Amino acid sequence: MSNAPKMDHAYDGIEEFDNPLPGWWKWLFVASIVYSPFYFIYYHGGGEGRSLSDLHSVALAENSRRQFGEIGDLQPTEEVLAYYMHEPRWVGVGESVYRTHCISCHGREGEGKVGPNLTDEHFKYINTLPDIAKVINEGAGNGAMPQWAGRLHPNEVVLVSAYVASMRGRNIDGRPPEGKQIPAWPEPPGEAP
Ligand code: HEC
Repeated sequence: MSNAPKMDHAYDGIEEFDNPLPGWWKWLFVASIVYSPFYFIYYHGGGEGRSLSDLHSVALAENSRRQFGEIGDLQPTEEVLAYYMHEPRWVGVGESVYRTHCISCHGREGEGKVGPNLTDEHFKYINTLPDIAKVINEGAGNGAMPQWAGRLHPNEVVLVSAYVASMRGRNIDGRPPEGKQIPAWPEPPGEAP
């Protein structure tokens, strides 16, 4: 039983205690209301670089810089691509770029959807490893394949190209082969070019 005073009404014999919310609770409530406009203006009022999504982009960029610090600025040459397509850790970075930007058109496993199957031996625009980076940078088919230069870090282009190169020959069921059969990729150089 509560010692709180009773409210002075009763309905069908049901009475109600007068139990106010604790003072600290009410003040927390008031304080959060008073705080909210300042929070809103600070984080959502258009101040450059303050929104959560801006902070997230900054953190992502910072993370890539730290990661890419180790490998420097990669050029999409035959040797660089042949080397990195056999480096699981860096192919993994390429794979995460692929998962973020390419699945919608090329399928989860590269089996093809709107875009061609990337796991067979046939390609429309590709003969050599650097052609992969070229198609990714410049796009193809009048924008059916979008242009990624400027939207991806140059190292991301190289690493996603390495990932695409590594998918060849998995022959995942999907779109039928398009284009022509191309020569095998070259052997990787013994050490980082
Ligand atoms: C909006 C859909 C779309 C997205 C997103 C997309 N592609 Fe494509 N891609 C295409 C289409 C369509 C083609 C074929 C264009 C043509 O046939 O002219 C293509 C072609 C290619 C080719 C050349 C294939 C060949 O046979 O020569 C490669 C490699 C490629 N894309 C890689 C990627 C990568 C890597 C990404 C992510 C960074 C990506 N694509 C994102 C639609 C897309």
